[in-house]
Amino acid sequence: MKIGVIGAGGIGGTVGTLWAKAGHEVLFSSRNPDQLTDLVVTAGANTKAGTIAQATAFANVILLAVYYWTTDAAIAAGSLDEKILIDATNPYIREADKIIRVTDTSSGLELAAKVPNAKVVKAYNTLPTATFANEARRADPYALFYCGDDAPAKAIVAHLIADSGFAGVISANWSK
Ligand SMILES: NC(=O)c1ccc[n+]([C@@H]2O[C@H](COP(=O)([O-])OP(=O)(O)OC[C@H]3O[C@@H](n4cnc5c(N)ncnc54)[C@H](OP(=O)(O)O)[C@@H]3O)[C@@H](O)[C@H]2O)c1
Repeated sequence: MKIGVIGAGGIGGTVGTLWAKAGHEVLFSSRNPDQLTDLVVTAGANTKAGTIAQATAFANVILLAVYYWTTDAAIAAGSLDEKILIDATNPYIREADKIIRVTDTSSGLELAAKVPNAKVVKAYNTLPTATFANEARRADPYALFYCGDDAPAKAIVAHLIADSGFAGVISANWSK
């Protein structure tokens, strides 16, 4: 499968690498693709780096792994129409030098409203980067929750969760 990663930091870089090692083609993107050379070397032959527009043109599955407060800028940089959009963001904002949890909201529902022509599936937001980096493919795999309203998109994400070495656990449709 061809996967575009928007935000190739801790989560995006780590999860994208797991998919690439499982045989998927991964294009990592951020605002500074020229700084992703080391990641591409580490992640291996199935990977390359590019702009966000290149990532969305390349792939039908996109992992969004940027800070919540940069979501609008990130999703404006490429077309997400008809894409399966895996949302790893959690709703934290930066205020002065503090990171603060935004309560009473779902970043996934907000994102789905912003990109109504994408198939948003919430996933990869419930475990820390270190767990993705160090605990994939255990005999007793860690559970990774996912949810969304598009059944075919969720089925594909379930496969990708398994391919990355975790046990997908489906939650209810989030708009019901
Ligand atoms: N850290 C965790 O353990 C963890 C766990 C679960 C979920 N999450 C969520 O995952 C998301 C990413 O967290 P992280 O820890 O991976 O952060 P991170 O390591 O700081 O990576 C963030 C990435 O986003 C890129 N970026 C920033 N602004 C951007 C923009 N406007 N457009 C495109 N790319 C942009 C950055 O690259 P450039 O600056 O080069 O653009 C960087 O590659 C957050 O929403 C967080 O809540 C984190």
